[in-house]
Amino acid sequence: MTDDRTPSASSATAPDGFPTGSGGHDPEMLRQRALDALLTARARTTALTDSVDEAELTAQHSPLMSPLVWDLAHIGNQEEQWLLRAVGGREALRPEIDGLYDAFEHPRAARPSLPLLAPAEARTYASDVRGRALDILEAAPLHEGGRPLERAGFAFGMIAQHEQQHDETMLITHQLRSGPVALTAPAPPEPTDATSLPAEVLVPGGPFTMGTSAEPWALDNERPAHQREVAAFHLATAPVTCGAYRRFMADGGYTDPRWWAPEGWDMVREHGLDAPLFWHRDGGQWLRRRFGVTEPVPDDEPVLHVSWYEADAYARWAGRRLPTEAEWEKAARHDPATGRSLRYPWGDTDPTPEQANLGQRHLRPARAGAYAAGRAPSGAGQLIGDVWEWTSSDFLPYPGFVAFPYREYSEVFFGPGHKVLRGGSFAVDQVACRGTFRNWDLPVRRQIFSGFRTARDA
Ligand code: AVJ
Ligand code: FE
Repeated sequence: MTDDRTPSASSATAPDGFPTGSGGHDPEMLRQRALDALLTARARTTALTDSVDEAELTAQHSPLMSPLVWDLAHIGNQEEQWLLRAVGGREALRPEIDGLYDAFEHPRAARPSLPLLAPAEARTYASDVRGRALDILEAAPLHEGGRPLERAGFAFGMIAQHEQQHDETMLITHQLRSGPVALTAPAPPEPTDATSLPAEVLVPGGPFTMGTSAEPWALDNERPAHQREVAAFHLATAPVTCGAYRRFMADGGYTDPRWWAPEGWDMVREHGLDAPLFWHRDGGQWLRRRFGVTEPVPDDEPVLHVSWYEADAYARWAGRRLPTEAEWEKAARHDPATGRSLRYPWGDTDPTPEQANLGQRHLRPARAGAYAAGRAPSGAGQLIGDVWEWTSSDFLPYPGFVAFPYREYSEVFFGPGHKVLRGGSFAVDQVACRGTFRNWDLPVRRQIFSGFRTARDA
């Protein structure tokens, strides 16, 4: 499933980079994958919403976030719109609620005052929708000649990814809430050979294949596969750690405008920023709050909850820069031995727990240097999972981009206002994470599970 294989009848792609049929995959394998992905997502949604009481489900824990019960019903409503109505041709179950759960109609801060479904109603609605969606999946024609939404099971994969994206959003809400601990998880694996890992690697110049036309459930903004020329550059093998970031802080990082983009400096002064979100000083020590637990900031863990402006300022202070999105993807996917782009840094196989910190298996990133089994041919590690990595790039369409199936997924966000993040975090499920996956956010955002690594010209 690499991206520059010879096109064949069974794996033909349209010019927009979507497969014309099952994308060369066995339709029954895709059906099983879709079922597994939907069930995995719902188990996580249930865990995130059953771990707090009714009052906490309907409360707004932060004006940046929706009440958890909004996410729950929105998950059901999107599934109803795409799987029941668009694919299944069914009538609306509750047409009167569509407007309430339209993310564009109501900003997050306004959602608590809407007449939302109560927790019990929201649970029943989401599970009624799911029962019907599984019936539709059982009979859907996922083979060659199917309708665009059904080809390669795309709509089912898209909806599983949508639910997982909101599960990550709900995990952010959990991180922002105060109150007793609601979620726990084991610590991630320790690095085994971190001492032999160089600080950075040289990625030689030359073209590579960016984006994908082959991945069946890649979203519209990841398509189509195309050639990109990338000049030689050096890339850090691991994300910037809390310890390194503290040296920036101790060196007056937050008090020297030299390091900051003008809007970033405005943000620092307006909000009095002096550390990543969730950090506070206690005497001589920096502590952080993580899912209800207050603990010393660990020096060798990737820094988390920094805005693009903070990442950009740190990189300038360090005499380095953020990688471009194309540099990041080349370092993560390009295999110089074959000249092809891989699905993941380690190859074309789905992630294992030894290769990447994904899926909320852990509630924190692993220490820098962990996941030796997940390294790319370039030598860089921890590209997938752990922390989302800010890139220097604006969120823009690839040449040949076609919005599918709706403009509001990607297209309306294209432009200089949003910066691209790559690689996923510990809070991202594997169905919504691959070497081509693109996330984006405003450069001021820091409640997300965001970190970064640095680069420099060769
Ligand atoms: C791709 C993570 C930016 O959460 O705003 C969820 C995903 N789109 N519902 C978001 C999404 C519609 C989106 N991000
Ligand atoms: Fe959504």
